[in-house]
Amino acid sequence: MGEDLLRIRDLRVSFRTAGTKLQVIRGFSADIGKGEITGVLGESGSGKTVSFNSLLGLIDEDTGSIDSGEAVYRGKNLLGMKERELRAIRGRLISYVFQNPAQAMNPYRSVGNQMTQILRVHGMNHARSNVLDTLRDVGLDRPELVYDMYPFQLSGGQNQRAMIALGIVLRPELLIADEPTSFVDTSLRKRILDLFTEINAKYRTSIVIITHDFDVARHVCHKLIIMYGGLVVEEGSVDEIMSSPLHPYTEELINCTRSLNSNEKELYSLQGMPLGPHDFEDECPFSRRCRYREEICTRKIPDIIDRAGRKVRCINRIVDAGPQLRQRSRSA
Ligand SMILES: Nc1ncnc2c1ncn2[C@@H]1O[C@H](COP(=O)(O)OP(=O)(O)OP(=O)(O)O)[C@@H](O)[C@H]1O
Ligand SMILES: [Mg+2]
Repeated sequence: MGEDLLRIRDLRVSFRTAGTKLQVIRGFSADIGKGEITGVLGESGSGKTVSFNSLLGLIDEDTGSIDSGEAVYRGKNLLGMKERELRAIRGRLISYVFQNPAQAMNPYRSVGNQMTQILRVHGMNHARSNVLDTLRDVGLDRPELVYDMYPFQLSGGQNQRAMIALGIVLRPELLIADEPTSFVDTSLRKRILDLFTEINAKYRTSIVIITHDFDVARHVCHKLIIMYGGLVVEEGSVDEIMSSPLHPYTEELINCTRSLNSNEKELYSLQGMPLGPHDFEDECPFSRRCRYREEICTRKIPDIIDRAGRKVRCINRIVDAGPQLRQRSRSA
């Protein structure tokens, strides 16, 4: 894997609800590679959105707070920046395509108008032809018509493409797309995903795709980050993770995906419920659902073991004397 664009270390984020402060991101660390497509995977509530929203100052200011951490981008810590400094980066250099279309698009303005406005605010060429080029880039047919259309006039797939167009119109260095295919049907899903591959190839844009769908990640990503209980539990290249998952949670997710794609009548499913912040304890976050659980797993949160970018947070997977991570033979 190549040079890093963004280096995130020990990010901790809390929310105050009903008078109680709960830490929901408990030490998120990850490296986002230059020119790479990184998939961030995990079940609902694992902390994918909050982790990446926090980097750009996008969490709810009234209830949320960043307790600690560092996110180094172009030699500066994003987490220590004033809002004015962040504003110059947000959208222009790092752009976020939201999980919820209502957060991304203004319903009262046409698509072309919104894109022109973004270009103008950032002092960039806002000629109509420039906007039309980007609408073409995201595969929207008849961009001249779409330019004047309002979000409610677009189909789900067109809306998704328009949101991505808004995200790339400033040609950011990093595009963070949160569940970019959750509002499109399966026939459109592949085409939207191919779009990310095309943008990555054409502009060398680094891309983070947040998803809970292994198929999505496998289709477009070079590298994967697996999250569980507000922590990264595994990180590595797609090929390595798919062929030899190290964390039991990753293993389970892959089993579920394989079963869904097969013709089996009985679908494989992961037992138990995902962990919420109210349940967090000082133990392996996955231990309560883990088939390999041993007493040692409940003693503390395991550290991440890192060998040449292949990382895993599991006490049951130990490092060999060599460069590869190796699985310890297990009693369970
Ligand atoms: N504004 C908020 N106030 C309180 N808790 C919050 C808030 N936003 C998120 N959380 C909590 O933070 C945790 C992580 O949420 P997050 O939205 O990052 O999950 P996610 O992995 O993106 O899930 P999904 O796949 O459903 O989008 C969850 O337990 C969630 O309830
Ligand atoms: Mg989310």
